[in-house]
Amino acid sequence: MSTPQLITTTKELQNWRRNLKVARVGFVPTMGALHEGHARLLEQSRQENEISVLSIYVNPTQFNNPEDLQKYPKTWEQDCKLAADKGVDVIFAPEFSDIYFDNYRYKIQENKDSQVLCGAHRPGHFDGVLTIVMKLFQLVKPHRAYFGEKDFQQLRLIQGMVQSFFMDIEIVPVRTVREESGLAMSSRNQRLSDEQRKLASVIYENLQKNLSAEEIKKNLSQKGLQVDYVEDHWNRRFIAAHLGPVRLIDNAEVIEGFHNEN
Ligand code: PAF
Repeated sequence: MSTPQLITTTKELQNWRRNLKVARVGFVPTMGALHEGHARLLEQSRQENEISVLSIYVNPTQFNNPEDLQKYPKTWEQDCKLAADKGVDVIFAPEFSDIYFDNYRYKIQENKDSQVLCGAHRPGHFDGVLTIVMKLFQLVKPHRAYFGEKDFQQLRLIQGMVQSFFMDIEIVPVRTVREESGLAMSSRNQRLSDEQRKLASVIYENLQKNLSAEEIKKNLSQKGLQVDYVEDHWNRRFIAAHLGPVRLIDNAEVIEGFHNEN
């Protein structure tokens, strides 16, 4: 286990990348507060590439709710330890004034798949996600980048962006990692009380059942969750709901009329 190199400026990262003479660079972009789901992404990157880069940056342009941004969990020391355990070579942790030196004057926008689900409920969210991911891709120049299927709409939009701009990057989807209860791992879960955490497993329970969207909405509301959506797109079922201070999302594949994850 060796300590990853910490790079905090875009200039330093560009210099590092320019001088790197290796065949394969894997990249895991994150907003920190790393959990087992991130660990899987890092493990796969380590296995498939000579060099692994992890970015830790809480990207303000993708937050439509100021309180969510302010309360986003930060666990820097733990994150660095996990990165070292997983054999990360470089941690890139930039500042807003550097990575958004243009003050978000230029942005990436998608006009179809970003308009439903989380895009419809979080105005501007995917503009922020795609813009930061584009910036990070331009800096890190990875051969492969790893994204969890929990954020399936994000994954799909990033795949589309890479195709649309002829970027030579393989986007690698990685299956959702779940707590024992079935709750999809998320950095935001840290903000749930023990009781809320138990209750939150109702989302995955309902995703696995062959129920109508309306029935699921009713089941979640009865448990005290405020539902944003239960919708089917791209052969998957998607759920977003608020529980206490946290907005939870999850999704699963639809198999011949049955909703299931495999
Ligand atoms: O999934 C996330 O953590 C973020 O949306 C990402 C891809 C790191 C962009 O800020």
